[in-house]
Amino acid sequence: MTDITNQTQAALDAIAAAPSLDALEEQRLDALGKKGWVSLALKTLGGMSPDERTAAAPAIQSARAAIADALDAKKAALETAELEARLARETIDLTLPAAPARRGSVHPVSQVMDELAEIFADLGFAVATGPEIEDDWHNFTALNMDETHPARAMHDTFYFPDKTSDGREVLLRTHTSPVQIRSMLAQGAPIRLIAPGRVYRSDSDATHTPMFHQVEGLVVGRDIHLGHLKWTLETFFKAFFEREDIVLRLRPSYFPFTEPSVEVDVGYSTEGGRRVVGGHGDAPGHAWMELGGSGMVNRRVLEFAGIDPDEYQGFAFGLGIDRIAMLKYGMNDLRAFFDGDPRWLQHYGFSLFDQPTLSAGVGAKV
Ligand code: DAH
Repeated sequence: MTDITNQTQAALDAIAAAPSLDALEEQRLDALGKKGWVSLALKTLGGMSPDERTAAAPAIQSARAAIADALDAKKAALETAELEARLARETIDLTLPAAPARRGSVHPVSQVMDELAEIFADLGFAVATGPEIEDDWHNFTALNMDETHPARAMHDTFYFPDKTSDGREVLLRTHTSPVQIRSMLAQGAPIRLIAPGRVYRSDSDATHTPMFHQVEGLVVGRDIHLGHLKWTLETFFKAFFEREDIVLRLRPSYFPFTEPSVEVDVGYSTEGGRRVVGGHGDAPGHAWMELGGSGMVNRRVLEFAGIDPDEYQGFAFGLGIDRIAMLKYGMNDLRAFFDGDPRWLQHYGFSLFDQPTLSAGVGAKV
């Protein structure tokens, strides 16, 4: 009898002192487990005479109940303590902003395309698009480059193995100029559009990537001349680079789809190792840099596109978007544009809310 009383007291003390749920479980097994002393004591009842059993049973039963109650109570206490500790440990600062810090950004190429659209829209230009998978008629033939034209070979074209149902070669467009043809065929004259987009050439080094971006410009109307072209490009570049001292030089050149053809150079100087556009290219400390090609639309191209060249004239231009983006925003390696490195995007990217507008500045960076 006193044995049980003592043993019970010892168990209750140990339970009260258990520092953890694991330690408490040990105490449970020790007393109430299959081979625990209470369980073994209960088993001895079976071998007793009824009188002995009536005498011994209540003590064992009440020991079992007392220990079970103590275990439950201690378990609840330990669980509550653990929860309190966790709540204290895992605090949440409810004053932090609900959304995580800005992660995504607008790629400089997208930003510059938006800037182009904004500036040219103000000059009355629409934005046109065309397919990146083209046929050789739109990409070459209609631009006055027939099958034997050497300029075709210079374009490092990616061809597809299959032909169109009417026997045309299928390729990745090598420039945005086929959009000229598609737009003229679709809407006729007069026309005033830009066509920004991806173009592809099998070429790759620090300044060339197999995919890059161009913007095409096309104006067709009556009495359009080279002066309109120069004014348009000058007005565009002044707005784009946000400075008045832009000086352009039109240098005679050759493109099959324009006649006459010119290359467009801009005066620049070098400040802190970086090219900065502005000023006359022949002024001291200045030089000329090529920005793109242009010219008066070749009459054969107008004919291919179903427009009467005796009635309408036009000018066209093609600029490298990546290149003018690099000039404006100061990147020096074209390849990084297409690596998708989040650190680069974080550094050079734009906020979604930074929409270019003429009134707020087309290049404003928040
Ligand atoms: N398509 C030419 C190229 O990718 C660029 C170009 C030159 C476009 C003269 C034009 C143009 O519209 O008139 O090299």
